[in-house]
Amino acid sequence: MRDGVLFEITKDQIETGLRGFPVGYCVTSYVDAYKGLTYVGRPISEVQNKEPMEVIYLLYHGEMGSKEQVRQFEKDLSHRASCKPETLRHIESLPKSGHSMDAFAAALLLVGMIEGKGDYREDCLDAIAKLPQIAAAVINHLAGWGPTPPSKPEMGYMENFVHMLQMPGKKSAELIQVMRLFNIVHYDHCGGNLSTFVGKAVASGLEPMWGSLAAAMTALAGPRHGRANQDCLEFVQQVLDEAGESATANDIEKLIRHKLENNQLVFGFGHAVLRVEDPRATVFYNYAQKHFPHYPLVKIALLLRSEGSRVLKENPKISDPYPNIDAITGTVLMAAGFTYPEYYTILFGLSRCIGIAIQIVYERLEARKGKGTPIVRPLYLYKSRI
Ligand code: MLT
Repeated sequence: MRDGVLFEITKDQIETGLRGFPVGYCVTSYVDAYKGLTYVGRPISEVQNKEPMEVIYLLYHGEMGSKEQVRQFEKDLSHRASCKPETLRHIESLPKSGHSMDAFAAALLLVGMIEGKGDYREDCLDAIAKLPQIAAAVINHLAGWGPTPPSKPEMGYMENFVHMLQMPGKKSAELIQVMRLFNIVHYDHCGGNLSTFVGKAVASGLEPMWGSLAAAMTALAGPRHGRANQDCLEFVQQVLDEAGESATANDIEKLIRHKLENNQLVFGFGHAVLRVEDPRATVFYNYAQKHFPHYPLVKIALLLRSEGSRVLKENPKISDPYPNIDAITGTVLMAAGFTYPEYYTILFGLSRCIGIAIQIVYERLEARKGKGTPIVRPLYLYKSRI
């Protein structure tokens, strides 16, 4: 390769979703095809059991904080954690039609309209602090669970979120544990995942933080991206209905082959970057095996993991025959008692907005010695359709 040239672009790479084209630097995380996600160089298996706030500190500051530093960071954020009553009132009057992510994106715009400061760093910190209440308010409103109680950030990041969710029934310690794990593994996935890329592209036109996050969330809402966690759960449920609770590996293998032969989709496999099982999925599979081994959906999800990969590996055209994160998270949320799949993508958004906001701060205020990256403006080649 020529000096200074990172990548030679060939014509057959045009119209392939910018797959693998280097376009920037990411200071928060990286996704290696074989090792998966690292947060500031730390594998996800190493950070999975930390406090959410410790991991957010790591992503925001680029290093692990001491106990005192994290405590101080948490204290600073706690002053920003509550939305204005006016903002909550507007969220509570959003239409209930459409997918729940529409309301989530609209709520982010509303917060920006009423509480936005027009300063990327300030709005990033506000977003980190307010997201649990925004997400809880949207879910409470859409589900008809009533008004959202005051934010209590001193309870802990996800403990506070679960406290604000007005869902009926008991909220178990297991549910909080699963919500914490879900939140931690979804913060960031390097710079090129669709929602992050869109958020940064919109911010490159100098749209403020909240509007950029809202745009990012409309990108996350798509079934090929964040809504895959809802669709995957529906798929596991469908397989459970078809094969039954006592299905064997052989039954699941046959069912997968049947679906593929009939051109039906097998959900939860493959990733644009990864060429191994998504290590975030591994964290969730291990959790499921340990905590919910007898839950029918878990049994099916585990069989799909092994049999799906086995069958897909037979096709040399499939570059990543392994399960991704979405294959298992919905199943574990169900097992833990959050039985509302229509809000699973909001949980993804509640987490992912944090990584996106921090990446936007980098691109707007720190990149290129503080000049920031220019407006995104890739080249499209002209081609006649006739
Ligand atoms: C993500 O977490 O954003 C997804 O795995 C998609 C991606 O990385 O492209």
